[in-house]
Amino acid sequence: MNEKQLSFLDLVIYQIYPRSFKDTNNDGIGDLKGIISKLDYLCDLGVNAIWLCPCYKSPNKDNGYDVADYRDIMDEFGTMEDMRVLIREMHSRGMKLIMDLVPNHTSDKHKWFIESRKSKDNPYSDYYYWFDKPINDWRASFGGSVWEYVPERDQYYLHSYTVGQPDLNWDNPKVVKEMQDVVDFWVDMGADGFRIDVIDQISKDFEAGRNCFGPNLHKYINALFGREKTAHLFTVGECWANDIEEIKRHISADRNELSTLFQFDHLEAGRSEKFTPMADSLVTVRDILIKWQSLTQQHQLLYSLFTDNHDNSPFISRIGNDKELRYESATCIATMFYLLKGVPFIYQGQEFGISSSHYDDMSYFDDVESFDMYNRLVDSGLTEKEAVEKINFGGRDNARRPMPWDNSVGGGFSEAKAWIPLSSRVNEINLENDLNSQKSIFRFYKAMLSLRKNNIAFRKGGFKAVSSDGDKYFVFEREYKNETFTVVCNFEQPSVIECKDFGTLVLNNYSDRVGAESSFRPYEIAVFKA
Ligand code: NOJ
Repeated sequence: MNEKQLSFLDLVIYQIYPRSFKDTNNDGIGDLKGIISKLDYLCDLGVNAIWLCPCYKSPNKDNGYDVADYRDIMDEFGTMEDMRVLIREMHSRGMKLIMDLVPNHTSDKHKWFIESRKSKDNPYSDYYYWFDKPINDWRASFGGSVWEYVPERDQYYLHSYTVGQPDLNWDNPKVVKEMQDVVDFWVDMGADGFRIDVIDQISKDFEAGRNCFGPNLHKYINALFGREKTAHLFTVGECWANDIEEIKRHISADRNELSTLFQFDHLEAGRSEKFTPMADSLVTVRDILIKWQSLTQQHQLLYSLFTDNHDNSPFISRIGNDKELRYESATCIATMFYLLKGVPFIYQGQEFGISSSHYDDMSYFDDVESFDMYNRLVDSGLTEKEAVEKINFGGRDNARRPMPWDNSVGGGFSEAKAWIPLSSRVNEINLENDLNSQKSIFRFYKAMLSLRKNNIAFRKGGFKAVSSDGDKYFVFEREYKNETFTVVCNFEQPSVIECKDFGTLVLNNYSDRVGAESSFRPYEIAVFKA
């Protein structure tokens, strides 16, 4: 790896969904001042960077992923002045800011689209994809056709997501230039990097029948990030590639495109879609992790370590035990991901074991994707009750409920009624309760991140899998020069794992473990230093 890649291995990134993080003006919606008020908390956890989900002006058809102005802040979140303060406060604590760049589509309320839809011959007419008739029968991500008719032009425009999110036409050089300017604007504001929304979709391949991985994709990524002005940035693209050659084209160091990718193999393991429980367990996930650790190591690529984000219900609820073994599962999952080689991303609330909610009817849900899925399930013959169960399991709302900071009314998120109902488990799972517990997930995260920070082997060292295929656990080594750590993560069943030669115990999640005892209980982890 080159110097730049190696330096990114020091990052620990915390993802904030601003709408649900902390409300300071009591309108029931999180805001930038709320984030500022929690920076010391995040530093204490051991985080040194924040990925901020979109906070630009937006009519919120898709909670900010429909941008109406890339250079202004959403009214509910605050002002550009708040943003300047946030950046200053972050930088003074040595924290980096990763903005969410949404280059594939804008809001239909963005001035480019407002102009574009007026006529076929205005300066913005080719900023989007317009056709006289639909050229295919693609379905939009959140329901309906991707084609929407506009009488003023007597034409249809393409929207891969909601009707309010028209896809930008990157084959128009003016669009490329506009987006470069947006990037530069935020670099000048002080952004240290970007998470790039559906990067694979900015070049379409209509002939091949897909709205992604088009022939000019790398030309466009290069135009965004292969420039002197952007050379220092940390960039992570959201991308559905799972072929190593494809991935290399995005993140090989010599290509000057992206630093790393969010790649979803481990979240898609053993499932047909996310509303149905995974067929397999952590063993499947382990094998996928081993595969990608090996491949990224072999090809000198930077890997992203994550289990949760705003688009998936909590990983612990889908694959761990979020009831009686919530502490053990949460800490085991954290250990098996964040002590691997790569850049850790922690989603808000994960550090104290936020788990999925359970609600009986759709009035507790908000997300466009949840409603689209619910309707499709009912149309396909499921009862309403069965359909709600699926949404409880896989809906994005699970990841978007307000952060439960404490036991006060409103969970310490807001004194007003929150924009979406609090978690059904708010009185049980909140930060205050976690910190008051003997078994604090937050304290475990803190200890684990400090181990990672203080030992270069966990950041820059090599990865080697030790456990083999038939095992129901994951043992791996991290090694740098003469230092070797062995990480043992047992899964749901008790196991016997011989570890007397692994060295001194430096991290564990069952408090009565003394050292190298070979019997491992459900989700027990132990980290040893040789
Ligand atoms: C991926 C984002 O993570 C998701 O939240 C959003 O709905 C789509 N892209 C469209 O922007």
